[in-house]
Amino acid sequence: MLWFESCDSTMDICHRFASFHKENLIIGSSKQISGRGTKNRLWVSPEGNLYLSILIFPQNRHIQTLHMIGAITILKLLQSEFGQSPSIKWPNDIIIDGKKICGVLQENVFENQKLEYSIIGIGLNVNMENNFKIDIPYTSIKLSTSKSIDVKKLGKKVSNLFFNYYLSDLTDQEITNIWIENIDTIGKKIRLSLLNGSYLEGEVVAIDNNGDLVLKTKSDENKIIKSGMVQKMQINK
Ligand code: BTN
Repeated sequence: MLWFESCDSTMDICHRFASFHKENLIIGSSKQISGRGTKNRLWVSPEGNLYLSILIFPQNRHIQTLHMIGAITILKLLQSEFGQSPSIKWPNDIIIDGKKICGVLQENVFENQKLEYSIIGIGLNVNMENNFKIDIPYTSIKLSTSKSIDVKKLGKKVSNLFFNYYLSDLTDQEITNIWIENIDTIGKKIRLSLLNGSYLEGEVVAIDNNGDLVLKTKSDENKIIKSGMVQKMQINK
């Protein structure tokens, strides 16, 4: 793992490396100047959290499984190291008691329609206090356990756990099943703002084997929603 005390974005460092470094690589940092989340949103990245990007050249894994490995890595870490009971808010937020503690981002680069490499970005709130203005409720390991943590050591644990899953004998379907089992969005009534400007409301009836959300709309139609179609998901009370 290459560790930076501060950087622009661990995603960008991985992209730069990928042009000449053709092996798996982990870039970690405890501060980012221009961290990004999904849909090019800003990822608030103050000092003391874990910002990790893992550059991989997948040959034996399906592209759709990779972000799931990132999510189940963090679930396992929070359960086994910190005794927490996290779950996944579809598609890739890790939450504890309804508050976001981690986000997972996947970026893929193709050459001649073939996947050249993927980068899995993990932003885990570690020592963050509750004095930041973020538009969704959030928590951190420190806020939920009262423990102060060595971020670099934690980064190594996360990387090891990630590669344990990535290189394991678990099939992509088995990994998908673990991911689906931990999604707490199933059965909830939601409102989706889609990237095309429209809205959809309904109940989540399942997450299918591709990781897509199956929404039962008010007109009793089942619609398949891919994460890439969604701008924002709101859970209705
Ligand atoms: C999300 O929007 O929920 C995904 C957030 C991913 C943030 C991580 S932090 C490490 C890596 N570097 C970035 O700039 N983003 C990802």
